Order: sequence, then C-alpha cells, then structure tokens
Amino acid sequence: MAEQRTSIHGQWTNRTVFILAATGSAVGLGNIWKFPYITGENGGGTFVLVYLLCIALIGIPIMMAEIMLGRRGKQSPINTMIALAKEERRSPGWVWLGWMGVVAGFLILSYYSVIAGWAMSYVFRTGGGMFLGVTADGVNSIFTDLVSDPERLLAWHTLFMVMTMMVVSRGVKNGIERAVTFLMPLLFGLLIVIVIYAMTTGYFMEGVQFLFTPGSIDGKGVLIAMGHAFFTLSLGMGAIMVYGSYLSKDHSIVQAAIWIALADTVVALLAGLAIFPIVFANGLEPGAGPGLIFQTLPIAFGHMQGGTLVGVVFFTLLVFAAWTSAISLIEPAVAYLVENKGLTRIYASVLIGVFTWFVGLGTVFSFNIWKDKTFSIPYMFDNFTFFDTLDYLTANIMLPLGGLFIAIFAAWVMRQQSTRDELATYPFIYMVWRVLVRFITPLAVIVVFLNAIGAIKI
Ligand code: PFF
Repeated sequence: MAEQRTSIHGQWTNRTVFILAATGSAVGLGNIWKFPYITGENGGGTFVLVYLLCIALIGIPIMMAEIMLGRRGKQSPINTMIALAKEERRSPGWVWLGWMGVVAGFLILSYYSVIAGWAMSYVFRTGGGMFLGVTADGVNSIFTDLVSDPERLLAWHTLFMVMTMMVVSRGVKNGIERAVTFLMPLLFGLLIVIVIYAMTTGYFMEGVQFLFTPGSIDGKGVLIAMGHAFFTLSLGMGAIMVYGSYLSKDHSIVQAAIWIALADTVVALLAGLAIFPIVFANGLEPGAGPGLIFQTLPIAFGHMQGGTLVGVVFFTLLVFAAWTSAISLIEPAVAYLVENKGLTRIYASVLIGVFTWFVGLGTVFSFNIWKDKTFSIPYMFDNFTFFDTLDYLTANIMLPLGGLFIAIFAAWVMRQQSTRDELATYPFIYMVWRVLVRFITPLAVIVVFLNAIGAIKI
C-alpha cells in the first residue's frame, strides 16, 4: 500500500539533494547562536558531553524514524500520521502528533525569525566598519542598542518572515535546493577561518578546555542538552518527516541520517571552538546568554586582517543557514493546508507567515518594552520573558515529547515488518536501531523529564 503513494508536492531530484535540504534544516541558528550560549550558561564540558550522547543515542535513531514515517506516509505530518495509523489499524488519534508539530513549528519560527533579524542587521553593522578596532565594551553597547529598539527589531523580523514566505510559496525544490548546495560548504569554510583566528588569541586551549573538560551539571542542564539535540537536528515536530515525504523509495535512510547528524554536530563544535577563545581572551562571560555570538564574533572581525569582509560574508551565511531552517519550520503546516484545504502554496504560506509574524511580536518586545513581563511555571522555570518561555517550552518540552511519541509510534505501533521494509538496511543495524527507539530513546526522554522536575534524582 505504502509503495503506491506519491507526494502531491513533488520529490527530491536525488538523495544528495535530500541530505542537503535536511542538513539545511538542521544547521542553523541552533548551531551557531544557540549551542555556544547554552553551553556557556550550563557550564561547558559536561553539557557538551550530554548533548553529544543525546545526538548519538536519541537524535540519530529518531531522525531515521522521522524520515521513515514521512517517506511511507508521503504527505504532511498530519496526514501522514492519519494514513500510517490507518494502515497499521491503529487509532486515528495519532493525528495529534502531527498537530503538535505544526504548533511547535510556528512557535519556534516566531522567535527564530527575530534572532535571524539580529544576524541580518549585523551584516550591515560589520559591512559599515562599525566594529573596526572595537573593544568588548563597545561591541556590547552596539548589541544593547539594537535589541532595545523595538522598531528596528520589528523591521528585520518582518523582512526575514517575508523572505521565508517567498521561498516556501515557490516550493522547496527551485530555490533552496540549489542555494544550499553552494552555500553550506562556504559557511563551513568560514567557520574554520574564524577558528583559526581564535587560535591566534592565545586563549584557544581555554576554549577547548571549557568545551571538553567535564564539570558539573544539574537536571535542568541535562534537559536543556537533550532539548537542544532535538532542536539542532530539527526533530520532534515533523520538519524532517515532511522532507522525508519527498524522498524516493530507493535511498538509504540510515546513511542519510548519519550524514545529516554528523554535519550538524561538526558545525556546532566549530562554532564553540570559534567563540569561547574569544570570550576568554576578552574577559567576557561565557554565560552571557542569547547575545553571546553578537558580542564575541565582532571582536574577531574588528581585529583580523580582512575582518570586515569575513564578517559580512559570515553573517550573510548565518542568515542563509537560518533561512534554510526557517522554511522547514512551516513546510509541515503549508503542506497540510495545500492538501486539505485546497489552498495554493502561495496563499497557504502567506497565511501561516502572517500568523507567525504576529506571534513574533512577543519576542521583539521581550528584549525591550516587555523586558520585565515575566512568566514562571512551577518545577520548570522562574521569571522567564516571553521569548525565554517560548524557547523553553518548544525546545525542551514540545520537541522531546514529539520525539518520544515518534519513537513509540515507529517502534511499538508500526509492525516490525513495515519498519524493516522501509529502512531496508543490514539486519544488525536494523536491530540496533530498533532497540534504541523501542527502549533507550523513550526511557531516556522520560528519565530526563522526571529528573528535570525533581521527581527522581540521577
Ligand atoms: N535545526 C534548526 C537549528 O539548529 O537552527 C532549528 C529548527 C529547524 C528546529 C527546524 C526545528 C525544526 F523543525
């Protein structure tokens, strides 16, 4: 039955294109903006170790499961869940998993777009020579000026949302496919250039030590590390599932998932190696929070040979990386509207985009006029701004929860024969995957949740 389905939205030209698109979704602000600052806030080494373990033991198996579900269902995650549940003669109630993904997608994009806006404005700040010879204090005040001005943030947020809607409305194949192929390797290369600069600061080993020397971590830190593993690999909300639905049957899911996770991890670690030496060389705080890269990298650009050019190219690529991720955040919702409501892609993209833009206002104001409006949820967090709250709830709760149920669906609900056919890999690899998604992944997610709220102590 599954073999006869085809996607009404088209199909990737080949496997490489799929890997690039999925890598484009995975590699984004999560790697370069978020990973360094949450590592800084959570004390470094042990956090990185837990994150790497989560990528290997939870992330990669769930990525395989998501691609597999998508490719078998061949529709938006909502309809894929309906189709697969029916095929396996299970409750149609599984559809909520698709819906939760759609909601998580626009909640994430609503703040993602605001941060991408910061990166866009930094293209111009760097290009205008604002950082030439700048001190750490100088960079700090440039950053504070930007985020305390709601109008400027709003303008960049609006521009980024328009860019996202434009691509999604044209379908993924024409724009993104080609651009990603060319730009991702360039981003990688530039990160290496900045790592080389970081080596010259004389504080490289401090950076390495901070990233790789185990220290202490609490239950909340473990939850944040796990949540980030989902976030950075775009898992738990249907983005990878919907990309999987455009993949043809004869490609290896296992290999693709490993490539995507590897590329994503390398970019995050390179970002860490680029940023922490600069932090220590300039007496900055590793736990500075969301502004960390905007307060460190400009110092490098302001002092290195050709730094203005490198800086402009770097922030441009960062915007690009964010762009290729943003698209995948609303693709599940757009695909659903096209499938079920008969809307054109353009109309569906604009509808979802405008709604997301509106929610994004909350994040724009979180850094200025609503700075003191905070929320607390018992056992989870205290005094979080709107932005902090959205970020926490999506990355640390919704994505792991989505991933948990994707694992349960793939390993407990679907027949073994169905998953074996779809993954079509060596018996040993299949067995390892199955043990991981059937036992290890669900157990790990549950234990980390309980540990974070203090219900158990590990
Ligand atoms: N993986 C992206 C990043 O690391 O920036 C963010 C993201 C994209 C999360 C798509 C979730 C998603 F579905």
